[in-house]
Amino acid sequence: MTHTHVAGAIHGDVTTRGPVWLQPPSDVNQLVDHLWSSEVTKTADGELSVAGVTVSDLAARVGTPALVVDEADLRSRARSFVDAFTGWDVFYAGKSFLSVAIATWVADEGLFLDVCSGGELAVALRAGVDPLKIGMHGNNKSDEELHQALDAGVGRLIVDSADEIERLSVIAAERDARPGVLVRVTAGVEAHTHEYIATAREDQKFGIPITGGAALAALLRCHNDEHLNLLGIHSHIGSQIFDAEGFDVAGRRTLRLHAQFAEQTGYEMPEFDMGGGFGIAYTTQDSPATPYELAEQMRHIVESECTSLGVAVPRVSIEPGRAISGPAAFMLYRVGTVKTVPLDGGQARVYIAVDGGMSDNIRTALYGAEYSATLANRRSSAPPVLSRVVGKHCESGDIVVRDEFLPADVRRGDLIAVPASGAYSRSMASNYNHVPRPPVVSVADGKISMLLRRETVEDLLSHDVGQVPWGTEDGPELPGR
Ligand SMILES: Cc1ncc(COP(=O)(O)O)c(C=O)c1O
Repeated sequence: MTHTHVAGAIHGDVTTRGPVWLQPPSDVNQLVDHLWSSEVTKTADGELSVAGVTVSDLAARVGTPALVVDEADLRSRARSFVDAFTGWDVFYAGKSFLSVAIATWVADEGLFLDVCSGGELAVALRAGVDPLKIGMHGNNKSDEELHQALDAGVGRLIVDSADEIERLSVIAAERDARPGVLVRVTAGVEAHTHEYIATAREDQKFGIPITGGAALAALLRCHNDEHLNLLGIHSHIGSQIFDAEGFDVAGRRTLRLHAQFAEQTGYEMPEFDMGGGFGIAYTTQDSPATPYELAEQMRHIVESECTSLGVAVPRVSIEPGRAISGPAAFMLYRVGTVKTVPLDGGQARVYIAVDGGMSDNIRTALYGAEYSATLANRRSSAPPVLSRVVGKHCESGDIVVRDEFLPADVRRGDLIAVPASGAYSRSMASNYNHVPRPPVVSVADGKISMLLRRETVEDLLSHDVGQVPWGTEDGPELPGR
C-alpha cells in the first residue's frame, strides 16, 4: 500500500475511523506493549518513561525532537538473533541505524556488521569493529570505496555487478590482495510484509539475476580469478518479512545455483548469505515472527534443500537491520499547531503538527510507511479522535503518523512519542528546509547518553561558503567566518 502524494493534499481515504486495521482504543492512555521497547512504560500519572527517565526529563535536558534509544532493548534484540541463529553469522545491517556506539553495542553482543558505503565503513572502523567481521555491500561502489575496503581488510565484499567484479579484480591484482567475495544474486523473489512474489525475473538495480545465467557466469568469473576469494552467494529478498515463505522460495533457487556451481567446478562454496528484511511491529496490525521461529524455519529450508541437492550445508549468514534497531527507539516530538480540518461529508480530521517531520523520518512520505503514536507527557481523559501527526516542512506529504487515535485534547506543548522509529529514520534523515537533524540519545539504567549531537543551523551554514573562486573555499578570508 502506498499513500505517496507529492506536494498536494491527500484526498479520498477519509473516514472518521481510519483504515480497517486501526481500532479505537478502549483506553487511549494505554501503551500497546509490543510496539514499544522493553524498558518503556507509562508512569502512574500517564507519562512515558524509558529505563527510568521520563520524557519530560528527556525533553527538558535534550530538547525535542530527539531520537531516544533504549540501549538494553537494542542489545537484547541483537543478542536474541545470535542466540536464535546459533552457528550462523548474524550481520547487523548498519544501514538501518548506525553510529559509533551502536556499532560497538552490536559487536559487543557478538554480531558481525554489514555496511554499504565508505561512510558506513568509516563508522564501523572508528567503533573498532574487527574488519574481518565486516561485510561491504553497495550496487555502485566507487574505486575509492573498494580501495578503502581493501585497506581496512574487510572480511567480505558483496559484489553486485559484472562491472564491479572487473574493477575489483584489477584493484586486487594491483595490490596483490585476495578479498573474500560473495556474489549478490536476484532469485526472482520479492517479499514485503505478509506477501512475497516469486517471478522469473527481477526488474531492479540490485544483484545479478539467476535467470538467464548471469549469476552463474559471475560466480565462475570470480572463481577463476586468482585475486578473488569466492566465498558464496548472497541473496536479499526484501523488507518487513513476517514469515519464512519468501526465504523458502529464494533459498531453493539460490541453493540450486550453489549446487550447480559445485557440480560444474568441483568447488562447494563455503558460505551462503540469506540477507535481511525481518519484519517488526509498527502498528497493531503487525505481528512478526520471533527470531527463534524464523531461525527454525530457515534452518530447515537450508538443511533440507542441501540434503536434497547433495551438497554440504555451507556457513550461513543473515543480515537483520530493522528487527534490531527499529523497535529499540522512539522519536520524541513537541506538539506545535493543532488544527481540525473539515472534510467532505461533514467529517473532520485533527492535524497535530510536531517540531520535526519528514527530515527526521522520511519513511511515511517516501513509501507510505505506517506508524503509531502516543500522547507521552500526561494522562488524558478526553475521548480518542482519529488524528494525523504531521511535520513542520513545506510539503503536504510531510506526514509522520498517517492515522492514529489520540486524545481529543492534545494541545500545543504536549509531547508525542512515535515507537519503532529506530530504523531508517536517522539513517535517511535530511536537512530539508534547513532544519538541523535531531540528536540521538540512549537511555540505560536511568542515565542519558549522547550518541549523535543535535545539529545546529551553524553546522549547516558552515557548509555554505557563499560564493568564492573554486579552490579557495578553505581559505581564511571567507565571508561569515
Ligand atoms: C542486502 C541487505 N541486507 C540487509 C538489509 C536490512 O534489511 P532490514 O533492515 O529490513 O532487515 C537490507 C535492507 O535494505 C539489504 O539491502
